[in-house]
Amino acid sequence: MEKTFVMIKPDGVQRGYVGEIISRFESKGLKLVALKMLWIDEETAREHYAEHKGKDFYRPLINYITSGPVVAMLVEGDSAIKVVRKLVGKTDPKEAKPGTIRGDLGLDVARNVVHAADSEKSAERELNIFFDPEDIKEYELSSEEWLYE
Ligand code: RTP
Ligand code: MG
Repeated sequence: MEKTFVMIKPDGVQRGYVGEIISRFESKGLKLVALKMLWIDEETAREHYAEHKGKDFYRPLINYITSGPVVAMLVEGDSAIKVVRKLVGKTDPKEAKPGTIRGDLGLDVARNVVHAADSEKSAERELNIFFDPEDIKEYELSSEEWLYE
């Protein structure tokens, strides 16, 4: 089983898509293992987006991600990192395919509704930023018997 980090960005919360976005992961058969709403501070935003420091869109990105509450999740499942990135779609919602979260719900690259970790290393790093061990609830789904045996 693979763990990945997903975040519904301020525009996703603002526009009322929390339920819809979580539903898409649940419908796919992925498991929610941790979930919280938080308002990211400047320091956490810089740490989360450290790889983009120095780029043109870095300052607007930090301003945007700290502009309102977000919903952070740990999503688990077979090849969860790749599967979640596919469900999320391309970075620019104009290029993202219909049927993906960004393709269906977004139009602007700066407000692309959702974040998802892009590798095992990023997933681990980001999960450590946003979750303490006690936030993570390990449990079995009845569907796991046939999905993963
Ligand atoms: P994310 O990290 O948010 O899941 O997005 P991603 O992997 O698809 O894209 P990434 O390259 O990591 O970029 C992080 C976020 O920065 C904003 N961005 N703006 N050209 C631009 O104006 C531009 N490029 C990227 C997006 O909000 C993107 O999600
Ligand atoms: Mg990224």
